[in-house]
Amino acid sequence: MPSYAAFIGHQPHLSLAELAATVPGFLLHEKLDRTAVLFDSAVTLDAAFLDTLGGTVVLAEKLTEGIKSLEDVPDALAKKLLPVKGKATFSLRTLGLAPATIKALYRKSKDHLKKKGKPSRYVGNERKAALSIVLREHKLLDGSGGSELVILQRKGEDGAPSLLWTGMTVGAQDIESYSTRDMEKPVRDTGVGLLPPKLAQIMINFGIWLAKKPSPSPSPTVYDPFCGTGVIPMECLLRGFSALASDKSEKAVTGCGKNLDWLRKEFEIKKSVVSSKVWKHDATKPFEVKETVDVIVTETSLGPSLEKRPTARDAQKLCSENEKLQQEFLRAAAASFPGVPIVCTWPVWYPTKSPVCLERIWKTIDECGYQAVLPPTIEIVGDRVSLLYRRPDQFVGREIVLLRPKRR
Ligand SMILES: C[S@@+](CC[C@H](N)C(=O)[O-])C[C@H]1O[C@@H](n2cnc3c(N)ncnc32)[C@H](O)[C@@H]1O
Repeated sequence: MPSYAAFIGHQPHLSLAELAATVPGFLLHEKLDRTAVLFDSAVTLDAAFLDTLGGTVVLAEKLTEGIKSLEDVPDALAKKLLPVKGKATFSLRTLGLAPATIKALYRKSKDHLKKKGKPSRYVGNERKAALSIVLREHKLLDGSGGSELVILQRKGEDGAPSLLWTGMTVGAQDIESYSTRDMEKPVRDTGVGLLPPKLAQIMINFGIWLAKKPSPSPSPTVYDPFCGTGVIPMECLLRGFSALASDKSEKAVTGCGKNLDWLRKEFEIKKSVVSSKVWKHDATKPFEVKETVDVIVTETSLGPSLEKRPTARDAQKLCSENEKLQQEFLRAAAASFPGVPIVCTWPVWYPTKSPVCLERIWKTIDECGYQAVLPPTIEIVGDRVSLLYRRPDQFVGREIVLLRPKRR
């Protein structure tokens, strides 16, 4: 079984849950320092797989032989770099190594390559590993321009650092593409809260995991009934998944349509290959959708955007209003899409003291015939079967809920 290290994003619990939902035969070995996880996969994972993940920044595959101590690093790099045509580029990504040690490794590796007659340059330095964009530009991910070696150390029982894991980087997030699809789309509505494309990817991955019956449809249809300006449908089209999208607001419907048209041109996605449809609909009313829906993935209304921290009283009021909407939506969805799983977000408000979350909705879930679940091996924190997403500066966070129909 191939083994991997994933360097994960700023919401580590979500990144881990996404890996558990997407990696076939996922077997967690260790979480390191909130920044990396070590795991086995039943299949080989590559850069294209990483591009489908929202929560992993860099993915490296374990070296099965060659490096027993840091002394072996220059030679291990030389083995990878000698076949590269012309000047080779290398880079180190480390955890638990002192900056002076990393600096010495860079220098020794370059000298060693020179002795072997291989001209080289390195990217990144002892303070900061190379940026994803640099790894892509210098072709370090497919090995054609060079390689990045990952070295993970931790303190052994005697307190001295011991080598834990070494591997080669095989994938790194395409930051440029994220910023294109987030910032360059024609319609951005900051008033309703902007869903980051990476979070949309994570939610879609949860949806695909829920929709497996037992194997996933090669081209599933995903429906977002609170589509806003369409981040979820956009990320679906990029994956080759058909997207259905609706919203109560005419402005959102027009905006979503414009964004999907732009995305199709920018990323060359033909309608004849991947279909999409956007229309106006109130998600608390019965749905009339003719297409077969595999999964509903949606960021429901977060309520009004807040300029300042809500008081506990305001938060309770916003919560009651929102709870009503969520209950009506779930009842409508259960009646119109029996057997179809749902991934949705609920708002969580943060007054000064305790957070305010939806409560009555859990009973509605049960009454509507759904069960909240988490991907395999992911532990429930507290008594809520959900995953939290919150940026520190936000007064309203999102609780991500994965609802599996009890009967399918
Ligand atoms: C948080 S926003 C979704 C943003 C979206 N994920 C995006 O990428 O822009 C929630 C959306 O729900 C819509 N909405 C609110 N109540 C609704 C309802 N009853 N039925 C359908 N849409 C509704 C709002 O118009 C808004 O566009």
